[in-house]
Amino acid sequence: MRGASAHDVLARAAALGEISEEPGRLTRRCATPALRRAAELVAEWMEDAGLTVRRDAVGNVIGRTGGDGPPFVLGSHLDTVPNAGRYDGPLGILAALAIVERLTVGGVQPPLPLEVAAFADEEGTRFGTAYLGSAAYAGAFEREWLDLVDDDGITLAEAIVAAGDDPEAAVGSRTPELVGYLEVHIEQGPVLEREAVPVGVVSAIAGQTRVRVVLAGEAGHAGTVPMAARHDALAAAAEVVLAVERVGRSTDGLVSTVGAMSLAPNVGNVVPGEVRMLLDVRHADDDVRARAAEAIRGEVERIASARGVDASWTLRYDTAAVELAPDLRRRLEAAIEAAGHPVRSLVSGAGHDAVALSRVCGASMLFVRCAGGISHDPRESVDESDVAAALDVVERFVRGL
Ligand code: HGY
Ligand code: MN
Ligand code: MN
Repeated sequence: MRGASAHDVLARAAALGEISEEPGRLTRRCATPALRRAAELVAEWMEDAGLTVRRDAVGNVIGRTGGDGPPFVLGSHLDTVPNAGRYDGPLGILAALAIVERLTVGGVQPPLPLEVAAFADEEGTRFGTAYLGSAAYAGAFEREWLDLVDDDGITLAEAIVAAGDDPEAAVGSRTPELVGYLEVHIEQGPVLEREAVPVGVVSAIAGQTRVRVVLAGEAGHAGTVPMAARHDALAAAAEVVLAVERVGRSTDGLVSTVGAMSLAPNVGNVVPGEVRMLLDVRHADDDVRARAAEAIRGEVERIASARGVDASWTLRYDTAAVELAPDLRRRLEAAIEAAGHPVRSLVSGAGHDAVALSRVCGASMLFVRCAGGISHDPRESVDESDVAAALDVVERFVRGL
């Protein structure tokens, strides 16, 4: 058997890309039958590659090879955002599996114990908080997460039970002893493409603040409530969206977004009484991010009070920026140089499972150029030659550990 190629990685990504909760587009949330089917396919590929495979209570699938002792872990997430591309997450899992296949061709032992991790939830699409899978793997799963509720009112605990697992096992997972972690991931941004570089080393991952804002005004008849008497929640929300954008534009490296907004469906003849919004604020410096979130909160309160609308602010998620492991970063840079590519280091504005792993071991990331920097969208794509470059770099990196 020869080791897997970039072509194999892309073919497998295409196969996984067909496993979705929805017809016609890729959506794969944690603890759903689609996630389970994808996990079973990955487990099959792992077994075919000679790995010993285990599945944990939150649905992570972990393949292991290379004997006892603390492993070096390579992986990424199997879940997706709604209407996703096929590479955000799966590329990292499939690249990891390809490397293990290359390092164990003909049944030889890899240079050290290795684990390939397919994490069940990084995006937080279903339960609103990210890294559920990698946190469980890292022994950092928080009991309160079991009470998180999805849009259908199902708790994470109920979803785990429905998937045939034990929620208590998720909470009780122990902190493993790990040599380190490497995640291969599409850049999800334009830098590598703009600089014509196939791969990049991630130096840090920006911190994230996610907030739910609910604006409660007064519903009314669109034809009879005079303009001066209105407490229109949607008009208030419109001002909030622009205020969030204004704050985001005010500081270098800051991004702030209202990524989701919902109101009761109607035929347009109603003054909206309530609007729910999800806010996302990020920066590589935690103090800058905290100040920006406070500034936005002040704007929400100012706008709401000026319009006679009530505003609630619920922090859903807050993670600090993460510096990735300098020693692993240096090894990655050396492997990139040895593979004959320019070394480009960059900060990740997107969150990754490496955040959760960085709490229990040295974590590292290799970005792969993606077309137009597009991600979280079915147009997501990578060149086979860039995947080949990434596999070459990672193989050199692991052989040097
Ligand atoms: O939202 C993010 O940063 C990532 O895609 N989970
Ligand atoms: Mn993502
Ligand atoms: Mn991702």
